[in-house]
Formats: sequence, structure tokens, C-alpha cells
Amino acid sequence: MIQLVRGFKDILPDETVVWQRIEAAARKQLESYGFSEIRTPVLEQAALFQRSIGEHTDIVEKEMYTFPGSRDTLLTLRPEATASVVRAYIQHKLYAEDPVRKLYSIGPMFRKERPQKGRYRQFHQVNAEVFGIESAYMDAQLISMLERFFRKIDVSGLTVHINSLGCPGCRDEYREALRKALAGKTGALCADCVRRLDKNPLRLLDCKVPACREEVSNAPAMADFVCAACTDHFETVKSGLAAMGVVYEVDPRLVRGLDYYTRTAFEIQTDELGAQNAIAGGGRYDGLVGQLGGPVMPAVGFAIGMDRLVDLVMARQAAGVRPPVLFFAAVGEAARGRAFQWSCALSEAGLRVEIDFSARSLKALMRRAGRLGAEYVLIVGDNELAENKAVLRHMGTKTQAEVPIDTVETLVAAVTARVGNNPSPEQR
Ligand code: HAM
Repeated sequence: MIQLVRGFKDILPDETVVWQRIEAAARKQLESYGFSEIRTPVLEQAALFQRSIGEHTDIVEKEMYTFPGSRDTLLTLRPEATASVVRAYIQHKLYAEDPVRKLYSIGPMFRKERPQKGRYRQFHQVNAEVFGIESAYMDAQLISMLERFFRKIDVSGLTVHINSLGCPGCRDEYREALRKALAGKTGALCADCVRRLDKNPLRLLDCKVPACREEVSNAPAMADFVCAACTDHFETVKSGLAAMGVVYEVDPRLVRGLDYYTRTAFEIQTDELGAQNAIAGGGRYDGLVGQLGGPVMPAVGFAIGMDRLVDLVMARQAAGVRPPVLFFAAVGEAARGRAFQWSCALSEAGLRVEIDFSARSLKALMRRAGRLGAEYVLIVGDNELAENKAVLRHMGTKTQAEVPIDTVETLVAAVTARVGNNPSPEQR
């Protein structure tokens, strides 16, 4: 019997129901934020991806499905959507009336990667691009929109990682500094990194080989090279995220596998899918439209990996539980008494809350919160009662904040503000 091609997969009816639900929710979310749909072909000229993604990236060097077309052209099955959307934006002069365009698309991409769980040779993305907006608030809005989208489809517990890759000016300086610092260390680096050092030294930052990580940790950090304008931009992204209550982690190793990024780069990750932990990724690419022959135009976007997202949703469905948004870890009888009332009030306010009334240690309670997949834990014991403050911990990033517990009302207001701006019950 002729079997499926390795790395490709059938999506059977049990699963297509989940795909349709998520795609519909994505369209609704994107359209509420002003996006319109664009559909581009799966086949493009190879040169489009070589020039945009970058000659010395893994995608272009070894993962593209490329074959001869008519005359002397080489054709490639698209490995991502950004390059195609940029091509269409330029080719159809979508900037002519108003340079600001917000475009989304949903469809299959192709990369000849080594197949494993969460990594396929045909996979699907929900892709979104914004052209013509330089403001860092746009970057923050995209990340916050994504975070809220994941909540709406009931995928909580994800972590947002951000970094600034600077502009060509400051990045070139950093690239040189990195090259210089590691040039004498090639004996300690893996073969891939030795090659990357010359062609694309930034990629060394996300190498997983321990010896390379060790060398990179002693090398200069990108943050020290980012220029004043790029630093300001990044600070605005961070303050925008904070204003929207998005918990994020700055990850100086986040460089992403495509060369077109400038300034903001981000990923949304889960720890539930093993090695392939990025559910969505994106960033700013202010140089690409000009580089591909269009006008100089700022741009920013992202793509959600649908296959991984569906795997995550199905795994949670199979487990039969919806993880709590907030878990109460109350230690001691007095704290349990107060936490009991607070948890009822928060449930009534629409949050999915879980509380453990047993007399267990904080360590045991935290372990239970982890097993349940709680997004946040509210920790309260005798010390917190004495100080009139409880500790709100985000389980993904392990960051903590204090919340006032003077009255039930102040606690409910403080927690709902941090945990997601008064969500409606159906959202949580
Ligand atoms: P990317 O990080 O290469 O970015 O891909 C985005 C997402 O697609 C990943 O986070 C992952 O969830 C999913 N993905 C990538 N490769 C695979 C694979 N082999 N199997 C399953 N899922 C995969 C881009 O593609 C950029 N074009 C995103 C972007 C848009 N940046 C700006 N605008």
C-alpha cells in the first residue's frame, strides 16, 4: 500500500473540528483588530525566500523544497508566509492609497526539517503582518492580541519571550564584536557554530549545544550594543505589554531563524510539547519591504503554528480538565479561612479558580498547582496575613507580585487586573 510521505500528515475528522474552531476564533480576533485576509500561492520563485529569509539560514540552506520551473527559474514551496505577503504588498502597490495595511492569511507551509513531534514538513500557520506602522505600541498590541487569543481558545499557561535585535546599525557592530570574541574559541564550538561564526554569528546565540552556550555566555551581550533609538523602542514595547497586563520575559538569546528581523523579536512558548516549544513567533522587519524592491516601509508580524496549537488543545482535551487560571496556596488555618472567601469571590468574578483546603506544606501545594497546569498561584500564609499582602506568582515565568488583601474587594480588583483585565466567564 502506498503510504503517506514522511513528515506529512493527514488531519482526520476528529481533529478537523478543533482546527475549524481555532481558525474561526483566529479570524474573529484578527478582524476585530483591523486585519483583512490575503491569500497568496504556495509556490513562489526561490529567489524571494533566499533574499528575504537569508542565504545563511537553516531554512534556505537546507530546508526548502525547490525545483526547476520553466526557463531558468527555480521554484520553491513557501517555507513561511511573510516573504509572499511582502511580495504581494509591493507587486499590487497595496501601499498606494494608504501605506498602513494589516493582512492575515491561513495556510500550509513547507520545510524539509527532520520530522519529530511538533515538527512537520507540511505545517500550517495563521500569519499576520502589519505594514506602515513604526510605533512600538503596534508590536505590543500584536503580542497582547495573541495572548488574549490564546486565552479565548482556552490555552493558558504560555510564556511570552521578547528581545530586541537592534537595527542594522547597532546589529552590525554587535555581530562584529561577537565574531571577534569567539574567533579564538572555534575549538570549543560545534561544527555548525564554526560555520555560522563567519556567515551568521547571531545564530550562535540560540545554539543548544552546552559547550557553545558556555562560550556564548562569556561573549559580549547584544543588549550592550543596542542603540538609543532601538532601546527606546524596546522600552515602549515593554511598557505597552505591562499596561495590557501581559507577563513577559526578556530573553537575550532569542534571535529567531529568519534574517529579516529588526528591533523586536518575540515567541510564545509552552512547556507541554517537548522540544518544539514555540507556538507562535514573530517580530519587526523594517528593512524587508525596501530590500525586496518596495518603498522603505516599517513592518511587524507573527505566525502561529497551528499544528502545535492543535496538539496542545487536543492533549488538554484528552486529559479532560481545563486548568485553573488561579490556584490558591494557603498555608495555615487562618490563611485557609480567608482564602476560602477570596476564592469564592474570584470564581464569582469569572475566573477559573481552584483551592486546596487540606493542611499541606507550601511545597506540596505548589506541586499540585503545577500538576493542574495553573497559570497563577496566590500564596498566602501567616506572614502575608500580618502584612496584608499576598503573593501572586506566574507559574510560567516564575515572576511574582504582591497584591493587597485588606478587603475581598481590593483583592478581587487587584487579581483580576493582573490576571487578565476582568475577563468574562466564557473567556476564562
Ligand atoms: P517561524 O518562527 O519560523 O516564523 O514560524 C512560526 C511558527 O510556526 C513557529 O513558532 C511554530 O509554531 C510553527 N512552525 C515552524 N516550523 C514548523 C514545523 N516544521 N512544524 C510545525 N510547526 C512549525 C515565521 O515563519 C515568520 N514568518 C513569522 C513572522 C510573520 N514574522 C513576521 N511576520
